[in-house]
Amino acid sequence: MAYYHRMGDIPPKRHTQFRQPDGSLYKEEVVSSKGFSGIYSTLYHIHNPNQVKSIGKPEPYSWKPATEHGLNQTHLKTSGVEFTGEDYLSARRNLMMNSDVMMGICAPRQRKMDYYFKNADGDELIYIHDGEGVMYSQFGKLEVHKGDYIVIPRTTIYRFEFEEEGPLRLLVIESVGAIETVKRYRNEVGQLLEHSPYCERDIRPPHDLHIEDKKGEYLVQIKKQGMLHQYSYGHSPLDIVGWDGFLYPYALSIYDFEPITGRIHQPPPVHQTFQAWGFVICSFVPRLFDYHPLSIPAPYNHSNIDSDEVLYYAEGEFMSRKGIDRGSFTLHMGGLPHGPHPGTVEKSIGAKATDEYAVMLDTFKSLQITTDALEFVDENYPMSWTE
Ligand SMILES: [Fe+2]
Repeated sequence: MAYYHRMGDIPPKRHTQFRQPDGSLYKEEVVSSKGFSGIYSTLYHIHNPNQVKSIGKPEPYSWKPATEHGLNQTHLKTSGVEFTGEDYLSARRNLMMNSDVMMGICAPRQRKMDYYFKNADGDELIYIHDGEGVMYSQFGKLEVHKGDYIVIPRTTIYRFEFEEEGPLRLLVIESVGAIETVKRYRNEVGQLLEHSPYCERDIRPPHDLHIEDKKGEYLVQIKKQGMLHQYSYGHSPLDIVGWDGFLYPYALSIYDFEPITGRIHQPPPVHQTFQAWGFVICSFVPRLFDYHPLSIPAPYNHSNIDSDEVLYYAEGEFMSRKGIDRGSFTLHMGGLPHGPHPGTVEKSIGAKATDEYAVMLDTFKSLQITTDALEFVDENYPMSWTE
């Protein structure tokens, strides 16, 4: 949930007559969550959103856990990969999964999608590690930049057009539960509080409506139950003249996340950025280190007895790790302690600041790497604490 937003033309009262210039009615669609008890938006279409022309053959679109990987502190070296596939969907490589969430990378060769995508299985969080572009959705146009988190509620119909120049690399998270701002950052009516590391001014909803009203053949690929379903319509799904509500895609830049620091080491919850069913997302950003005269900026050894921790290293020097590149993932599993690499604790003493950027996924259920991840496994990582 972000906040109430409205765009374009909507009637003054919901569920009342709202007519097009030719006298016909606009087609109202309420997009609601948790039945009618969660957040929702009301959209006004030029065409009936149910007018399906044809349905193609569904294709499998799911990932398998690599069960043979077992209990291992894991480093996935994905930094050397330039492309992970042809287009936005075929390039998705989910690398870790449990029954609540999947996380992976996407570095497509094609920058512009010539179809629309709708994920009906879960909310998506796309972190733009590299790339610039525009997301066109039913809710309007949203410019996206390097460092943006894009929260896309399930069933949003969208396509990306990324710029042809420069690298393109996305971190993709798919969540069974809704991806939300953090509850303890909000007051009783949902406003972000003074202690929140970001506020409503940092949340960027779509800024211009993008209405496509030409007839033609429009393909919407719908992910549902681990399959891709091919739906063709005779009009664009982006035929919305107005909408209002609380449910819409938005961007929040990691560069707008204001770090919370202290005299001694602050725990990961100070970096929390989003919450969802079964996991949290945190952002590690450049910040001043702890300022107690005897402080140790490097983290302590840690046993997470009921969660698994993933870090995706986005930018900068990560002070507690050796052998980690930009684009690396580490997965530290519950059941084993983890901590800074040898030498990094002493080295951190007296350091004043860090320039790191990292995205953390902490899950409450155990994660498994997928068979897609096996080729990236750094076999030496489990022993890398032994000098
Ligand atoms: Fe930890």
